Formats: sequence, C-alpha cells, structure tokens
Amino acid sequence: MSRPTAGSTAPLVRDSSFDPWVEIYPANMQHNAGEVSRRVGGRPILAVIKNNGYGAGVVNAAKALEPLPSIGAFAVVKLHEAMSLRDAGVNKPILLMGPFDERNLADAVARGIMPMVYTPFGPTLDRIAAHQQKPVPIHVCVDTGIGRVGVPFREAAPLIRDLASRKAVQIQGTMMTFTEDEEFDKEQLRRFQELCGALEVEGMRLGRKHAVSSFGVFQHPDAFLDMVRPGMALFGIYSETPFRSMGLLDLKPALSLKARVVYVKQLKTGDSAGYNRAYMAKQEVWLATVPVGHADGMPRAGANGGRVRIGDALYPIVASVSASHSILEIGSEPRVKIGDVATVFDGQEGSRPEDFGGATNTSVYDLTMHLGALLPRKVT
Ligand SMILES: Cc1ncc(COP(=O)(O)O)c(C=O)c1O
Repeated sequence: MSRPTAGSTAPLVRDSSFDPWVEIYPANMQHNAGEVSRRVGGRPILAVIKNNGYGAGVVNAAKALEPLPSIGAFAVVKLHEAMSLRDAGVNKPILLMGPFDERNLADAVARGIMPMVYTPFGPTLDRIAAHQQKPVPIHVCVDTGIGRVGVPFREAAPLIRDLASRKAVQIQGTMMTFTEDEEFDKEQLRRFQELCGALEVEGMRLGRKHAVSSFGVFQHPDAFLDMVRPGMALFGIYSETPFRSMGLLDLKPALSLKARVVYVKQLKTGDSAGYNRAYMAKQEVWLATVPVGHADGMPRAGANGGRVRIGDALYPIVASVSASHSILEIGSEPRVKIGDVATVFDGQEGSRPEDFGGATNTSVYDLTMHLGALLPRKVT
C-alpha cells in the first residue's frame, strides 16, 4: 500500500490498531428486538437508545433497529442525541425524555422530535404549534412514585386536562416509570391505571400508555399496556442476574470492548506492577499490558475480580486499572504476545458483560454507558 505523502488527499490513519475499540453487532440487536416483541405479544417497542446508545453509539443503535416493524419509535434523554439521529437520516418518531427550553423545543419539534411533558407547558406548545401551523405531538410523563421527573400522580389530572384541551397539542403517549421495587410497583401501576381510567372516562385521548423498561419486560406482564420501553434488553444484556436463567428471553450482547496487547514482560520474584506497587510478584510471572483504562470505560473495579479473554483463556486484571492501561496476569509461561486481541467483554459465555459486571460488582449499565464516546465503533 502506498503511504500518503505531503499534499496527498489520502486519509491519514486516525486510531492506532492497538487502541481500544467497541464492536457493534446489529444482527444481535435485531434478534433481541425479536425476543422482546415475542415476549410482549407484538406490542410496539419504544426503543430506549439514550446515553450514546448504551455505549454502542446512538446512531448505530437506531440504524440497527429502524428497519424492524416492531420498533415504533426511539427514546433518548439528550436533545443533541435526538438531533444526531435526525442528522443521520433516522426517520421513525423520536421521544425526547430529557430537558429543553422553549427555543430548544421549537427547533426539536421542527425536526419531528416529540417532547416528554410534565409541567404546564401548554401556552408554549400553543406558540410553537401556531408558528409551525400544526399540532405538537407529545408524551405526558406521570410520576407514580419514582420521584424523579413527571407530574405527581395526584396533580396529573388537571395538567393532562389542560394539555388535552388544546388544539395545539396531540397527546400521543402517557407514561410512567417503575421504581423496580416489587411491592411498590403494584401500587404504582394501580395509581397509573386509576388516573388514566378516570381521564379516559371523561373522554380524553391519552395516546399509547407505556410503563415497562427491560425490568418490566421480565417482571411485569400486567403492565405491558399499549407499548413497551426497553433499553438494555435490546442491547442483549440481562439487567438483573436472575433474569439470565428465567428462560423468558434469549438475549445476545450487541456490543463488545476490545484492545490489543501492547506489551508482555516477565517479573522476577519481588518485582511489582502498578501505582503504589499494587501487585507484587510472589514468584516469576508473566504479565501483559492492555491499553484500556478507566478513561475508556474500563471500571476501576476491574482489578477486583475482572478477567479479560485472550484467545480461549481468561486472565485476571491485577494491580489497579489506570486511566489508559490494565495489567493482566498471564502465569508462569508467556502464553500471549504483543498484538493479540484482548476482550474485556463480548457475547461469549464467561466474557459476557454480565460476567464481567458480576465478577467486579459493577452494574452492566456502568459497563456499557461509561464506554468512552470517542472510542472507535466498528459495526460488523
Ligand atoms: C424513562 C425510562 N424508560 C426506559 C428506560 C430503559 O431502561 P432499561 O435500559 O433498563 O430497559 C430508561 C432507562 O433507564 C428510562 O429512563
């Protein structure tokens, strides 16, 4: 291959082949959506792809899922993610579950992004609708006990009446979020259904009612309602350990974190590795250094039980995870070499995200959502 010369227009290499990267498996995302769809009896899926698509890249996630008829819409929390989806040519409806001001909202609505509303926003919606000469579709968020966002359920009826009475507003959905406390979830659902039932008796159109995230897809079939709202399950990861053995959904991880071994060395007895000499060699031992650290999303807790796969073997992370490096204990023989692919997590049993998370007491949400946004994403 010829090398780019001064003045050449050939693209320059951007990432070293040793740098960590994230692989995305769209076929697995589609498989997982199929599993969710089967479980929820074909109800439409509002696919939550917030926080950079759970690490996969928000556009990568949307592109994988958009062709599926089971995917009714996408949900994100940050306006810039919603805008990136439109910039990338994603056409399905997008729900913005996060904050915005009037100016933001006008721009978002102009691009077909629906706001999640829970404050007296009616007059603002009137102005925006007048400006664009069509009603603004919204979802109303009711707080039935999670205490985060949403109109408190006791105050929800007047707000929803107000919104529903405006020609400028089209309520396309009404939603709540469970606390995921088994007993209290029942009370939350009761509150939601009582509220919605009473408003519907008054003749109000609440659009599609939705409540369940991945947790509810497993645990709350009584709350599937008109639409479901999972995130993690679509990325093929069991959000709770017991879900893995329930036999309800066959989930295939849709992303992996990999890098290449940059250095292999032998320590003599009494040598150390890592800051503060966190690792001490009790005998001669081979170590391998992998250029992935906590700045890339490798949890610091990785050094407390985490293992990285090279070839067919899993090697423990030792010493401490620094910003850009992790150190693996290989053993008495130099069984790995510079350039070998080191997998922090992927879809194989033993190195799934749930395995790494379980071994290090790290939430799978932290493992995926903390992946460095600038790491190269390779869609395979
Ligand atoms: C309001 C709301 N709905 C749905 C989800 C999806 O959750 P999960 O990834 O657990 O399926 C989230 C994410 O935390 C959320 O905030």
